[in-house]
Parts: sequence; C-alpha cells; structure tokens
Amino acid sequence: MILYYSGTGNSEYAAKRIGGEIGDEVLNLFEKLRDGDVSEMHSEKPWVIVTPVYAWRIPRILGEWLRKTKLTGNPAVYFVLTCGAGIGNAGKYLKTLCAEMGMEYRGCLEVVMPENYIALFSPPSDAEARRIIGQAEPALQQAAEAVGSGKPFLEKPVTFTDRVLSGAVNALFYPLFIHAKKFYVTDACVSCGKCAEVCPLQNIRMEGGKPVWGENCTHCMACICRCPKAAIEYGKHSRGLPRYTFPAMAENAADGEKAQNQGFQSQGFDKQELQNQEKGSIEGNEE
Ligand SMILES: Cc1cc2nc3c(=O)[nH]c(=O)nc-3n(C[C@H](O)[C@H](O)[C@H](O)COP(=O)(O)O)c2cc1C
Ligand code: SF4
Ligand code: SF4
Repeated sequence: MILYYSGTGNSEYAAKRIGGEIGDEVLNLFEKLRDGDVSEMHSEKPWVIVTPVYAWRIPRILGEWLRKTKLTGNPAVYFVLTCGAGIGNAGKYLKTLCAEMGMEYRGCLEVVMPENYIALFSPPSDAEARRIIGQAEPALQQAAEAVGSGKPFLEKPVTFTDRVLSGAVNALFYPLFIHAKKFYVTDACVSCGKCAEVCPLQNIRMEGGKPVWGENCTHCMACICRCPKAAIEYGKHSRGLPRYTFPAMAENAADGEKAQNQGFQSQGFDKQELQNQEKGSIEGNEE
C-alpha cells in the first residue's frame, strides 16, 4: 500500500505515479494526520511511504505518526522522498525508525521535484516546474520497478555534508525556522476558508472571515501556496514570488475541483507527456 503526505502536490503526484505503475492502492494521509488517527493499518503488499523532505529528513509529524501507527501484514517499508535539491542522510534516520516500528527498511529514494519552500527560497516558474517534473520520471520509474520486483532501493552514497545537514542542521532548523509567526493575510483575501481546510495540523482558524495562525505549524506551505488569491504572505520574503503547487493541482483548483482524490492522467498530465518532457529536457541539455 502506498501512503503519502503532501503539502503542495509533488509527493501526491509521485505516489499516484508509482501506484499506477505497480497497480497498488494509494492513500492520502492528510485526514489521518489532521485527526490524529493512528489506528492499525494492514497491507499484504509492501508499504511505500511517499513524502516531501523537510530539512533533509522526513517531516516530524509523519515520523511521529509512523511511530504510533501499527502497520500489519507485509513488513517491508520503502521510502520515496521528494525534495527540491537533495535528501541528505535521511536514510539513516529512516532505518532507525523502521527498527523502532519493527518493520524491514527497504531503502529511501530521492526524487528531485520543484522547490515549494516559499518561506525561505524561490519556487520555480510554471515552465521550469514542468521541466523539473519531467526530469523526475526516471527516479519514479526506478521506484516502481524496485517495489514491483521486491528489490531494495539503490541508495546514493552519503557525504559528510549530508550527515551534517540531516543531523545538526535538522536539529537547529526546526526550533529556528518552523513556526507560523510570519504568516499574514492581505486585502486580496476573499474569505473562502481554503487555507484552513488544507492545513494538516488544523493550525488555521477563521476569525471575521480571515485566517489566523496558531502555534502548531509544520511549514508545509499548503496555506500560502494553495490560496486561490495569493493573499497570504510570509514576512517580506514571499512578496512577488510565484506560489508553487503541482501543476495538476493548480489546474484543479482553477476548475473549482478537488485534487485530493483524483488521478493525474485525466488532467492532461499523463505519463506520455512526462516522458516527452523528460526527453525534451534531456535533448535541451545536450544542445
Ligand atoms: C519545511 C520545508 C523544508 C524543506 N527542506 C528541504 C530539504 O531539506 N531539501 C530539499 O531538497 N528540499 C526541501 N524542501 C522542498 C520540498 O521537499 C519539495 O519541494 C517537495 O517536493 C515538496 O513536496 P510536496 O509538494 O509533496 O509538499 C523543503 C520544503 C519545506 C516546505
Ligand atoms: S485561502 Fe486565501 S482567500 Fe481563502 S480565506 Fe485563506 S487567505 Fe483568504
Ligand atoms: S499553517 Fe500553513 S504552513 Fe503551517 S502547517 Fe498549516 S498549512 Fe502548513
């Protein structure tokens, strides 16, 4: 069974692509995380956890959920980590997590996708995002093939810098950067309530039709990036920057549909298109 957590759609897409390829069930963990539902789950097939990387490790809310939730049936767990640039030494901590869970670690695979961390960095333009998504195809294929054939993921060698990023830097990053104090709403807000709806931690309440942020934030960037009016800012940094959501998610939002429960193939973002994009970007690189 494929379980995914996703703030802005990259990991949702990766999970659905792998699920489509190997014909396995794909489940969004959003409601379980939001509702604190840690009831036992069962799968005869290997578990595949698809998630963004936050500060070179899996998000803490997901780690805590996995620690508390009993996964029965197949003991094998694969991790697919989407990221903007790299996952550091995340695998070391996932091995330990699997040991704590009594599960069998089958590796973690890095999938570079568009950067969504608008609080600190600059998300790519739409065209650039589509190019990066196309380039992620081989990694997604590799993930599907390994899981489908029961082989462990082939992991990248870990450098000294990777160890520091996933270790000391991760430990400092959470207390220093992960908070909601810098979010604010502008006059562009139309009081639709979507920001509160998409928060996996119920950290946003609507007061007088406007969002108010609490103290329980994991910096998933869902509120700021998925606001249909770009009415949310993060300090001065986000001003004028493009909001990032996975392209099909943005198209769905424009149509007034919910992306959460839909596949991507019906939305003009199918495998063939991605392979063509990947080919185009490789050809572009060769010029
Ligand atoms: C809080 C936070 C921390 C992040 N840390 C990293 C990181 O350490 N390395 C990296 O390459 N990308 C990092 N990113 C980028 C995301 O991992 C990446 O864009 C991911 O694909 C987003 O997935 P999603 O759309 O499923 O939420 C971070 C993003 C956020 C919001
Ligand atoms: S999603 Fe945007 S427009 Fe809707 S309530 Fe939140 S800030 Fe306002
Ligand atoms: S407040 Fe915004 S950034 Fe923080 S967890 Fe909720 S949706 Fe994510």
